[in-house]
Amino acid sequence: MRLAGKTALITGAARGIGLAFARAYLAEGAEVAIADINLAAAQKAAASLGPKAHAIALDVTRQDSIGAAFAEAIQKMGKLDILINNAALFSAAPIVEITRADHDKLFAVNVAGTLFCTQAAARHMIPRGTGTIINMASQAGRRGEGLVAVYCATKAAVISLTQSAGLDLIAHGINVNAIAPGVVDGEHWDGVDAFFARYEGKAPGQKKREVGAAVPFGRMGTAEDLTGMAVFLATPEAKYIVAQCFGVDGGNWMA
Ligand SMILES: NC(=O)c1ccc[n+]([C@@H]2O[C@H](COP(=O)([O-])OP(=O)(O)OC[C@H]3O[C@@H](n4cnc5c(N)ncnc54)[C@H](O)[C@@H]3O)[C@@H](O)[C@H]2O)c1
Repeated sequence: MRLAGKTALITGAARGIGLAFARAYLAEGAEVAIADINLAAAQKAAASLGPKAHAIALDVTRQDSIGAAFAEAIQKMGKLDILINNAALFSAAPIVEITRADHDKLFAVNVAGTLFCTQAAARHMIPRGTGTIINMASQAGRRGEGLVAVYCATKAAVISLTQSAGLDLIAHGINVNAIAPGVVDGEHWDGVDAFFARYEGKAPGQKKREVGAAVPFGRMGTAEDLTGMAVFLATPEAKYIVAQCFGVDGGNWMA
């Protein structure tokens, strides 16, 4: 019960890693807002998790939606101690095929979404003099990938935002840090696999098997492999950790 009495809003928590974080936070005694653009999926997830899980409609690309979602979460839970900026989109294409629309969409969700949800949380946390913000970065933000230019750039921006927001907000007792996963199995990676099937001529599932076999740990990650770090960063033990990005990737980026 390391998060007993704490409240958290997790963006994009209707499935995948965000949902695993919600489950882990609830198990540690927290109350959680599952905020997602897919409200029906968020409601289904919240219903399966019990009365301390709340489904909230949130489109991180719209200021009015961010304002309404944070107001609703704070009204339902009484306060907001923890924000996890987890919602993101992925795309892949060779440089010559990238469209401006795809670029703008990914930056709107992954970068502007992270910044303006951080802002909404900070406006509530600053008067309270305490808070935790965790950004979902990626190994993709630490080096380029030939077919993944836009997504990699958004995640590099998330790491940069973590550094700047971390330095700004620690003066108000708010810790901002990031987690950089490697390759995590789930619906997200099913989509990634489909991109590579298209651009590298691979059979469905082949890219997944290849990336899993290449991880030094010996397999792809699971969402549950990431929950320990997400819980730890929200505990008082992590209070002196500021503006960092932690790889939780089975050694993948180092290799
Ligand atoms: N899965 C991986 O291999 C991997 C690796 C590195 C980093 N990450 C990062 O971890 C995080 C979670 O990844 P995942 O695999 O669970 O992804 P996912 O695609 O399974 O889930 C993303 C969630 O975000 C929601 N979402 C999309 N657009 C939104 C918007 N505009 N507003 C609010 N919600 C929106 C979706 O509805 C979905 O529920 C992401 O930031 C991702 O970039 C994932």
